[in-house]
Amino acid sequence: MSDSAKLKIGDQEVELPIIKGTESEKAIDIRSLRAQTGYITLDNGFMNTGSCESGITFLNGEKGILRYRGYPIEQLAEASNFVEVSCLLLNGELPNKEEYDSFNKLVSSHSKLPASFNEILDRFPKDAHPMGVMASATAALSGFYPELLNPELSADEQERVFAQLMGQLKTIAAHFYRRTQNLDPVSSDPSLGYAKDFLNMLFHGQGKDIDDDVAQALDVLFMLHADHEQNCSTSTVRVIGSSHANLFATISGGISALWGPLHGGANQAVLEMLEEINQNGGDHKKYLEKAKDKNDSFRLMGFGHRVYKNFDPRAKIIKKACDTVLTKLNVQDPLLDIAKGLEEEALKDDYFVQRNLYPNVDFYSGIIYKALGIPTNMFTVMFVLGRLPGWLAQWKELRDNPANKIARPRQIYSGHTERNYK
Ligand code: CMC
Repeated sequence: MSDSAKLKIGDQEVELPIIKGTESEKAIDIRSLRAQTGYITLDNGFMNTGSCESGITFLNGEKGILRYRGYPIEQLAEASNFVEVSCLLLNGELPNKEEYDSFNKLVSSHSKLPASFNEILDRFPKDAHPMGVMASATAALSGFYPELLNPELSADEQERVFAQLMGQLKTIAAHFYRRTQNLDPVSSDPSLGYAKDFLNMLFHGQGKDIDDDVAQALDVLFMLHADHEQNCSTSTVRVIGSSHANLFATISGGISALWGPLHGGANQAVLEMLEEINQNGGDHKKYLEKAKDKNDSFRLMGFGHRVYKNFDPRAKIIKKACDTVLTKLNVQDPLLDIAKGLEEEALKDDYFVQRNLYPNVDFYSGIIYKALGIPTNMFTVMFVLGRLPGWLAQWKELRDNPANKIARPRQIYSGHTERNYK
């Protein structure tokens, strides 16, 4: 096959280079199209637009494949842990023991918030949505680290700020939660490991035993969320980062994008939907009909995905983890039965089959979070903690490539033509 594509517009023929990825993905490089022809490409929602070349995550939506730096997600979920996966995403290779211990220590030693930061957290109303708190508090951290505002960071500074964000965002989430419960904050205990430490920072002194298997299930959830190539929040991080904004502001933007119910906010929306079905008598078939009705704006939350058109490999692992956690904690949750019923019905329903709509990562994760005692409005915060290393790795990749330009899409103007002011 030739390494270029020919495009004919009227009498004009232009030749555009073809770019191939290491997994044989193909793209037509249209960067010179406008200069050559005056045409732009139009792709609402970026349905078929590659925004960058990236060596971090490979995803094949037709085959249900997800790999971080080449490693299949199933193998990582089985044998790795969240901090190790974070090192892999950030540095390109799995860490050796020394590198792993050093990064782990760095995350813990930087998990403290600046001296007066709790005063900021205390100003939020207790019923503020934790995602708004996370986004604002992350941007507010910029005020305390003027030396880290310039995105041109040395390798040491980068490692420090990455570890710091991983530690501090965990602390912000836990401190805000405890404030809503009128409880004093709990400091990080590095000996516990990332997920168990976070659960301890949330629930210490509340009579909840933090079981190792349960903490392990949360660690797996963090790993499954750690990166997902150019999704909405990651693209937001890259767009903001491309303007050379500081890293705190950039990550804050990623958190805001994740909050939306079509993206990370779906995990909260799924649980609310399951609760509503339960409260209305558990008739899941009625809700399936509502989701299919084009005159009804209701969608089956936790179903469908822009790129997975076969199955979401993360959902498979999460469904298994869900059974494990509920059995371990001896929880019988009617919502799990409703979720399984919905899945079963949807998978044999023509509407869902024809549109390739399968359960996604958010469909079962909320049931696990609920079993752990995490409040529903904190579910998307769990996604933030998991996705953070992915955002950081994508930001680093963007910064490391001097050829990257400010993100600045074009448009087709469809408003008034010139008219005179009277
Ligand atoms: N329930 C009912 N119908 C659906 C659903 C759903 N959950 N998802 C898509 N459809 C239909 C949609 O109405 C459309 O039908 P038609 O072709 O007749 O107009 C068709 O399927 C294609 O949908 P789309 O909205 O054009 O697809 P998209 O790629 O733009 O959207 C999505 C992907 C994830 C936003 C969408 O499937 C959705 O809204 N799902 C529910 C929210 C959700 O679970 N989001 C989490 C996504 S995974 C985690 C993450 O991204 O963070």
